[in-house]
Amino acid sequence: MSLRAKKVSESETIMSEMIMPNDTNSLGNLMGGNLLRWMDIAGAICAGKHCERSVVTASVDHVSFKLPIPVGDVITIKASATRAFSTSVEIFVEVFSADIKGGNSRRCNDAYYTFVGLDDASRRPVTIPPVLPLSREEQELYNGALQRRELRLILSGRMKPEEATEIKSLFLKK
Ligand SMILES: CC(C)(COP(=O)(O)OP(=O)(O)OC[C@H]1O[C@@H](n2cnc3c(N)ncnc32)[C@H](O)[C@@H]1OP(=O)(O)O)[C@@H](O)C(=O)NCCC(=O)NCCS
Repeated sequence: MSLRAKKVSESETIMSEMIMPNDTNSLGNLMGGNLLRWMDIAGAICAGKHCERSVVTASVDHVSFKLPIPVGDVITIKASATRAFSTSVEIFVEVFSADIKGGNSRRCNDAYYTFVGLDDASRRPVTIPPVLPLSREEQELYNGALQRRELRLILSGRMKPEEATEIKSLFLKK
């Protein structure tokens, strides 16, 4: 497994699903938990391609469900690597929906997932390749990843606010 920096396009993953009755709530709209599961799968495929390894989900950042997605719609989930750290990679997952004819096309939600690359034998975290951002959008996502990482590590109790460099000021008492 190589540790060369990899372009975002090398691991970008697009997944489609048609919303069936069994995926919905009593109002006939997609259940949030089912959407999270598909987002997790698309994110894991993307992270696995980037790391060239088995990966596990370490965290999911804030998700809001902005628009209902009715039965019969077709959703498209796009997952892209934004930045890798030492053993973890942040994946940006976006969800779009449209009817079967492509009408009423809209962006429904997005979330940042963090996956960790594992060694096959020990199942412990291992170093993964860096992400090489090329476009302006990729560079912006790459730059913002440091702040998002510190925030999620602080909120999960894995980092003390005083250890943060990028977002320390948010936690300082005036
Ligand atoms: C994720 C996991 C492998 C981390 O193991 P660990 O012993 O804490 O290992 P480390 O402390 O070396 O952390 C490994 C990486 O995970 C990251 N990480 C761990 N918890 C995290 C969290 N809550 N949010 C974001 N990143 C996290 C660390 O920052 C580190 O990344 P880095 O090397 O790029 O800096 C371990 O907690 C695990 O196996 N969790 C269960 C995963 C799983 O089963 N997911 C499916 C849900 S059921």
